[in-house]
Amino acid sequence: MRSTFKLAVLAATLSAVQSAPQVHPARQLISVLSSVVASATESAASVTSSLSSVIESASTTASAESSTAEDASSSPYASTPTSFSSYTGTYSPNPAATGYKNLPPGGVGTDPNGPPPDYSPSDEFDLQSLILATYQEYIELDLFHNGLASYSTGEFDDAGIDESQRYLLQFMAEQEVGHSTAFNNMLPPDSKVQICNYTYPHDSVRSFIDFSQVLTRWGEAGVYGFLPHLTSRPMAQIMLQSITTEAKQQEAFAMMEGLFPQVYWFNMGLPQSYAWSLLVQYISACPPSNPRVNFNVFPLLFVLNQPQLYSDDSQSAVATNNTSLWEPGSSIEFAWEANGVQKGPIETGGYATAVNSSAGAPRFAAFIHQLNVTYVPLEDVDTENRTASAPLPDFRMFNSTNGPNVNGTVFVSLVDEDVYLTPYNLSLIVDHTLAVGYLHAY
Ligand SMILES: *[C@@H]1O[C@H](CO)[C@@H](O)[C@H](O)[C@H]1NC(C)=O
Ligand SMILES: *[C@@H]1O[C@H](CO)[C@@H](O)[C@H](O)[C@H]1NC(C)=O
Ligand SMILES: *[C@@H]1O[C@H](CO)[C@@H](O)[C@H](O)[C@H]1NC(C)=O
Ligand SMILES: *[C@@H]1O[C@H](CO)[C@@H](O)[C@H](O)[C@H]1NC(C)=O
Ligand SMILES: *[C@@H]1O[C@H](CO)[C@@H](O)[C@H](O)[C@H]1NC(C)=O
Ligand SMILES: *[C@@H]1O[C@H](CO)[C@@H](O)[C@H](O)[C@H]1NC(C)=O
Ligand SMILES: *[C@@H]1O[C@H](CO)[C@@H](O)[C@H](O)[C@H]1NC(C)=O
Ligand SMILES: *[C@@H]1O[C@H](CO)[C@@H](O)[C@H](O)[C@H]1NC(C)=O
Ligand SMILES: *[C@@H]1O[C@H](CO)[C@@H](O)[C@H](O)[C@H]1NC(C)=O
Repeated sequence: MRSTFKLAVLAATLSAVQSAPQVHPARQLISVLSSVVASATESAASVTSSLSSVIESASTTASAESSTAEDASSSPYASTPTSFSSYTGTYSPNPAATGYKNLPPGGVGTDPNGPPPDYSPSDEFDLQSLILATYQEYIELDLFHNGLASYSTGEFDDAGIDESQRYLLQFMAEQEVGHSTAFNNMLPPDSKVQICNYTYPHDSVRSFIDFSQVLTRWGEAGVYGFLPHLTSRPMAQIMLQSITTEAKQQEAFAMMEGLFPQVYWFNMGLPQSYAWSLLVQYISACPPSNPRVNFNVFPLLFVLNQPQLYSDDSQSAVATNNTSLWEPGSSIEFAWEANGVQKGPIETGGYATAVNSSAGAPRFAAFIHQLNVTYVPLEDVDTENRTASAPLPDFRMFNSTNGPNVNGTVFVSLVDEDVYLTPYNLSLIVDHTLAVGYLHAY
């Protein structure tokens, strides 16, 4: 009885939260949910009045916070919402909230008389992006199986990955079966991708989990980077619903490593050529019928002083504060590959590293993180031995004191120019890119 009331209050609460404009949603939900918990422990008679108070409290909070939502430099956690228990007014229904409405006009593909959605690539950009993403799904499928098969249950237990977490790994591999099937279904008959053979850099449970964490990070970012640019929006819909699952895998791997799982406010996007440059090195052989990937393969950028995120005693956890390996200003030491290095499935043609011939010498390290590309001038550039260094940038999202720094697993490239880029034109970095890698910036 009591739990039924609790659910009703929760449902009303959630819809109130969803309809509230421009509020910090997490803060509001927490305040409202604690109200719900409080109200649920009261007698059933008081629950009805609690319900109206909760809704009222949610909208009060909304208007109180929306006026400051634009002020990005102030803390989003600063304002304290009104406590519902102090509210003594009455609830009157909002006439605009009742009755069946016509949907707002506009939107793409919403016309009931328009053509039905076509879940296939519309052009070469769509096709190549989908082929790349299918290669990514297959390496994940293979990697998760490979990791599970490579280590004993005792070795997994020692790393804090218990039987239930191993089942989650198994289930993630099955999710990849689903994703690769959906993507292949959208590919034309002459461009189907089959699973390849791979070589992996892991030699322990912890290095397997860490590699999976990095690989899923470029997997999700690689798709976010092109999704809004696809011509085929129906295809984008399927890819969106796949890649959000992958983002949850990425977070689960961070938790298995005992890291703070979300050290950012936004997930970054990546150009396809960056994702492909990071992926192709692990593919050793593919069926000859597999389509080629027509994105660039950049020389890899290595971080010589890359911190190891896991230690012998690190254990999985929902969240830890294990995130202070670098400080802004810490010197990052880079080395990079030459042009013309062969990699990938050599027997079926392979791929070679290359940069745009009009790109100049490396002058900046570009940190690709959250919504931003943050450039730092390179120091000690040695183009003969291909080494350089750069300090970790001092960055706060929106210049807010609570804004995350360059943090978590982020991507770094070397470029010849510090071209100003925002999320939707990030791919313009490609012609300036000389090497691509990643940094454990925790
Ligand atoms: C992958 O490896 C297996 C086992 O060594 C081999 O039988 C198979 O032919 C390889 N696949 C490709 C595409 O080379
Ligand atoms: C946090 O990091 C410390 C130092 O590397 C390590 O000893 C500890 O096990 C880590 N904790 C977790 C939960 O991974
Ligand atoms: C983690 O950091 C937060 C914020 O500084 C702090 O409130 C919390 O107590 C820390 N946790 C541990 C285990 O130190
Ligand atoms: C990453 O974020 C955590 C938590 O805010 C912070 O303790 C740590 O110093 C940050 N790391 C860097 C490199 O900024
Ligand atoms: C990061 O990028 C966002 C979106 O382009 C921008 O609004 C913000 O100002 C940038 N942050 C900083 C500190 O430059
Ligand atoms: C490149 O490295 C070699 C061997 O360490 C060294 O002898 C040479 O001086 C370096 N080149 C430059 C330009 O520093
Ligand atoms: C953040 O602060 C720096 C230094 O004061 C300034 O150069 C930059 O323009 C600011 N960025 C934003 C987005 O306000
Ligand atoms: C990228 O987009 C921003 C606007 O968001 C614009 O100011 C900038 O000039 C663009 N970069 C290039 C290289 O066109
Ligand atoms: C190389 O970069 C230049 C300048 O952005 C561009 O015009 C050209 O198309 C690029 N070349 C190739 C092969 O992409």
